[in-house]
Amino acid sequence: MRVSTHFALWVAGLAQAETQTTAGERACLARHAAGRQRLVEIGVWHGVTTRVLRAVMDPTATLWAVDPYPVGRLRVSFQQLIAHREVNSVRNGRVEWVRDTGVGAANRHRERGLPPADFVFIDGDHTYEGLQGDWTGWSPLVAPGAIIALHDTHASPSRPMNTTGSARYTREVILHDPAFECVDTHDSLTVMRRREA
Ligand SMILES: C[S@@+](CC[C@H](N)C(=O)[O-])C[C@H]1O[C@@H](n2cnc3c(N)ncnc32)[C@H](O)[C@@H]1O
Repeated sequence: MRVSTHFALWVAGLAQAETQTTAGERACLARHAAGRQRLVEIGVWHGVTTRVLRAVMDPTATLWAVDPYPVGRLRVSFQQLIAHREVNSVRNGRVEWVRDTGVGAANRHRERGLPPADFVFIDGDHTYEGLQGDWTGWSPLVAPGAIIALHDTHASPSRPMNTTGSARYTREVILHDPAFECVDTHDSLTVMRRREA
């Protein structure tokens, strides 16, 4: 379906915001994000998982919602319009929108001297180099005990993806990072926790 057609149907209440995550993956994200204070999501699309994170985070928390939202032929990002309304319908904590890549957002976070994040969900550029950029950008910016959850990192019954860039980078690099341990998996989701110093 064309993006503008989906947008028109969504405005009319005849189509839902889209996500590629499964209900089980969203439940897993919600468990690990519950009560967190400084959350980052890289790759927002229509904001379905952003809504989940916002609903369960601490009421005083900030969630940085990162997506470059490239514009289409009509010079507008319909995905961004949908995401803003979907995410703003959840009343909890604060959301800061960052229209940038995951790498650009990590650089801004560092330049602003912001405190380390305690939850990061990486679901942006799923190429090998894309995940490499997000992992090397964000893994030093999280506190001990913090969670980094990654989508599309291994095959699941519904998504045979062991040869994709993000699955390869996870298998070859992330799972061997001595600063982190794998604490959970669900479908194609991998959940890493930063070890205590
Ligand atoms: C799979 S969707 C995210 C879906 C969302 N997490 C959900 O399930 O509800 C991927 C999103 O990543 C964004 N994206 C692509 N490259 C990116 C990058 N380098 N950094 C951050 N986001 C990126 C795309 O614009 C797209 O909106």
